Amino acid sequence: MNTTKVVMVGHVDHGKSTLVGQLLHLTGSLPEGKVESIEESCRSRGVPFEWAFVMDAFSSERDQNVTIDTAQHWMHHEDRQFVIIDAPGHREFIKNMVTGAAQADGAIVLLAANEGVAEQSKRHGYLLGMLGIKQVVVAVNKMDLVGYSQSHFDALENEYRAFLKDVGVDVSEFVAVSAKEGENITSTSDALPWSKQTLLGALKTIKPVSEAFGQALQLSVQDIYRFDDRRLIACKVEQGKLTVGDEVAIYPGGEKTKVASIEVWSAPEKTTAVAGESIAITLTNSLFTERGNVITAARAPLVSQSIATRIFWLGSNDLKTGRRVKVKVGTQAVWAQVTEVENVTDVANLEKQDRASLGKHEVADIRFELEQPLVCDSHRQSLALGRVVIVDGYDVCGGGLILSSGEPKAAGISVTDWYQLNGHFGGVLEVPENRRVCGQLQKELFALGIRSSVCDRSSASEVANSGVLALVPSQAGGRLMIYGKKSFHLTLKERIPTEIATHLRG
Ligand code: GTP
Ligand code: MG
Repeated sequence: MNTTKVVMVGHVDHGKSTLVGQLLHLTGSLPEGKVESIEESCRSRGVPFEWAFVMDAFSSERDQNVTIDTAQHWMHHEDRQFVIIDAPGHREFIKNMVTGAAQADGAIVLLAANEGVAEQSKRHGYLLGMLGIKQVVVAVNKMDLVGYSQSHFDALENEYRAFLKDVGVDVSEFVAVSAKEGENITSTSDALPWSKQTLLGALKTIKPVSEAFGQALQLSVQDIYRFDDRRLIACKVEQGKLTVGDEVAIYPGGEKTKVASIEVWSAPEKTTAVAGESIAITLTNSLFTERGNVITAARAPLVSQSIATRIFWLGSNDLKTGRRVKVKVGTQAVWAQVTEVENVTDVANLEKQDRASLGKHEVADIRFELEQPLVCDSHRQSLALGRVVIVDGYDVCGGGLILSSGEPKAAGISVTDWYQLNGHFGGVLEVPENRRVCGQLQKELFALGIRSSVCDRSSASEVANSGVLALVPSQAGGRLMIYGKKSFHLTLKERIPTEIATHLRG
């Protein structure tokens, strides 16, 4: 059974824990005797019963052997299984969301009817939008405090729906509930006869992302194993369905081949695999594959040496032009340089800041130049390949969405197209300032069948993006900024004149 992960977000005290407690209770997902024992201890202490106590007791027991800072609760209903993530600390919650630790299929946003749309309700809405969480249900809670008024609910729905639309979140359902009274949670309520849907009904519209997302096949390569003569490619089906005999292409190179077999550890061979499964495959011909490669069928991913992203920044040092960080997408990690910072936005009030550096807890559109081709996708096409995590040193310090390939669109020729024409990827090689050395190097590269061009730093990315190795005379000394496959990099290092090689890093 496929589990659906749903994150519960909302302003402090709007009733998240109470709602999770009721949901688990009414669906029979709580361990037997749990509620009774909390009721008993409330009675003996003379305090009113709170569902939040149940949730707290429940998670502190389990958290001792779980190293996560969000409380995860399992819920079953009929043929569906959910994990509900109740996020206590706002800070930690945002970090988990951004890094994908709480990679949720969908979200329930809670609003207290008597307080309305709070600052944090907006912040959370914004974050859901920028993290590409597309399945969102809004629960308007504490309806008992506003006399279960339909007009009150309608006004809140109109206000919040409009805000969310502005930040790119299309809410599927707005539901009126009272978590405390248990109204309209799992069954229709006499107090809310005008409500179109129960919370459970709305929750069931949230599907695992792997099912909800497009059907275009995408496999990410985790590792390669050699087994008595065969090369097994361990990979995860990120989306779509794979069948033995399928014609596929391996990116970044885009080489075409066929799937010869699908194998699962200690299980009989099978002929199909679907989204979410980890499998190993063999191919009909032995093409070069490595961790980080992406295998697709009908639709090609983006392969690019520059990307346009929207980043939520968590780092203590500002992110600005020229900064070098590591960009991670799925199993790939590449060095990248920030080349543009635009639309810096304060998430609290959505105001655009008039500066080009990104501070902690701000969002901006960032363009990165990458040191080697990255296989990725727009977040609208793929969750697995459309999200980035930014690492500085050993720290995760940001994350966000890939908007598009950052390359100029005009020519419409991709990195993969150039690779297929040239037999190598483009790159940037900084060489110590010396035109003669550049010329000598170009001759060596020519003999190796590698196209290169001597140019300025300012045009280097463009040259590299056209599949050519840009040779940039540089005072700073040599650094191989962008290169193709490891084998190409090594050959290059061996053949280039030693006076340059000694300056090379990377
Ligand atoms: P934090 O975890 O601190 O952010 O709060 P929370 O969102 O988990 O809220 P919690 O469930 O702890 O509820 C906060 C208070 O609101 C408690 O006193 C609840 O009893 C009360 N409450 C929750 N839901 C309702 C409701 O539907 N009606 C009324 N009247 N009170 C509610
Ligand atoms: Mg709580």
